[in-house]
Amino acid sequence: MKLIILGPPGAGKGTQAQHICNSYNIHHVSVGDMLRDEVGKQTEKGKLIDSYIKKGNLIPDKMITEIMKEKLSSDSCKNGYLLDGFPRTLIQGEELAKFQDIDAVFNINVDDEILAERLTGRRVCLKCKEVDHITKNKEEICKKCGEKLSIRDDDKDADIILNRIQIYHQLTEPLINFYTNKGVLHNVYSGLGASIEVYNQIKEILDGNSKK
Ligand code: AP5
Repeated sequence: MKLIILGPPGAGKGTQAQHICNSYNIHHVSVGDMLRDEVGKQTEKGKLIDSYIKKGNLIPDKMITEIMKEKLSSDSCKNGYLLDGFPRTLIQGEELAKFQDIDAVFNINVDDEILAERLTGRRVCLKCKEVDHITKNKEEICKKCGEKLSIRDDDKDADIILNRIQIYHQLTEPLINFYTNKGVLHNVYSGLGASIEVYNQIKEILDGNSKK
């Protein structure tokens, strides 16, 4: 299975990706985590990437497409994958379509007012990449590996969060039509309910597809 999960920052792409990949045993390609790992290595490339991420801006299309071509041709992706964070512009979508056929795209719909609350309260584990929220984990200790949870740099400033949401509407949203026209887009809805409710919508579609 070659899948994509789309949605604005804070929609729950990473959260759903973890559920899907654990259940269906496919590789989770979190582009944000890959980029943050590169930033952590303090390489020249990492410093350049950091200069975009910390302002909430996108990495240039050419650079991210080269990174993704290399990643998707690696052994880790040969049995299927779920892309979380790529493509994020029409140019990236068109480039991806030149070398990969995608089976399904899940578009998570969430109101903008909910997104900021999710992002300011998000806590992440730098060791095992688990994602949690301050309202569900007041101790701020990772439930999976016991590490102290952290706040992502791009979640610390309200203006940066707003910039990320605006960039989503301007540059990423056109991908919804792009994949609708290809006949692979599925809308799912996330509101104030638990993340398992969103996963159940995705599971129903995936299980339905596999029975066809
Ligand atoms: P990336 O790391 O991909 O960030 P993002 O798209 O902004 O998405 P987030 O990780 O913020 O949110 P999410 O939808 O995964 O939500 P989550 O599951 O964590 O990218 C970071 C940066 O890298 C970009 O800004 C850009 O600079 C660069 N970049 C990445 N890809 C690029 C590309 N292709 N091209 C160019 N640049 C690129 O959930 C959020 C919170 O909500 C959590 O606390 C969670 O516990 C909670 N939550 C989740 N689901 C629910 C629910 N159903 N109900 C209640 N709470 C929930």
